[in-house]
Amino acid sequence: MSLNWVIENYECVESTQDILKEISSSTFTEEGLVISAQTQTAGRGRHGNVWKAPKGNLYISFLLHPECEISVAGHFSFLIAVALSKTIDKYIDSGHEKSLKWPNDILIDGKKCAGILLESNISPKGTISDLYVGVGVNILAPPEERIGLQQVSSQILTVESVLNTLLKTINIYYDLYSKKGFKEIQNLWISEAYRLHEKINVRLPQKTLSGIFEGLDEEGTLLLRLDNGVLERITAGEVYF
Ligand code: BTN
Repeated sequence: MSLNWVIENYECVESTQDILKEISSSTFTEEGLVISAQTQTAGRGRHGNVWKAPKGNLYISFLLHPECEISVAGHFSFLIAVALSKTIDKYIDSGHEKSLKWPNDILIDGKKCAGILLESNISPKGTISDLYVGVGVNILAPPEERIGLQQVSSQILTVESVLNTLLKTINIYYDLYSKKGFKEIQNLWISEAYRLHEKINVRLPQKTLSGIFEGLDEEGTLLLRLDNGVLERITAGEVYF
């Protein structure tokens, strides 16, 4: 099963997420619509963070209609993270270290190269009717303290070629997920997980927890073994070290 991508290109928008939401709320829109912009003036990341968006990087939002339970919506963020990671594999030179930071950051040499933002609409029956998947990949113009794919590649990169590779790769893993479920995506993600079996800190709205990162459950929840032996299941939070 693959998505039929239809790409709409924009020069400058506030956020590709908002353009996608506007379009899909004004008329029924098939899944696979991709809004791509050269720059964003109000790009946003997870936890209300700003996503800086100078020209030269990839900024897209695309639409899915998963009609799934809210509890499994996170599967899509791991699926896209794996597809992003496999896309980066096509460009990255050997000698650089790529890893996946829970829930969906891509790090190269310990710095953030790409991030994923999921926003959704819930239907009256309680399933996810619209999933707005936002992806930002630093390529030619990484903001400060970030890393750009071009910095670790000896190929001459363009945003367009990375986008085409990414969309093809998402289809491969979307198909895998449709046929085999989350387990294979989970295993692929875990195989590249940053700081697995090591001590991490997780910032939650009211507190911060520290413990050993033991893995993911079947919904993508982070499993954290606290010093007192209790296993905490974390569905949302910011991991730091
Ligand atoms: C994160 O790591 O915090 C998620 C970053 C997501 C950024 C992308 S860029 C395209 C899309 N439009 C936005 O405003 N945000 C996402």
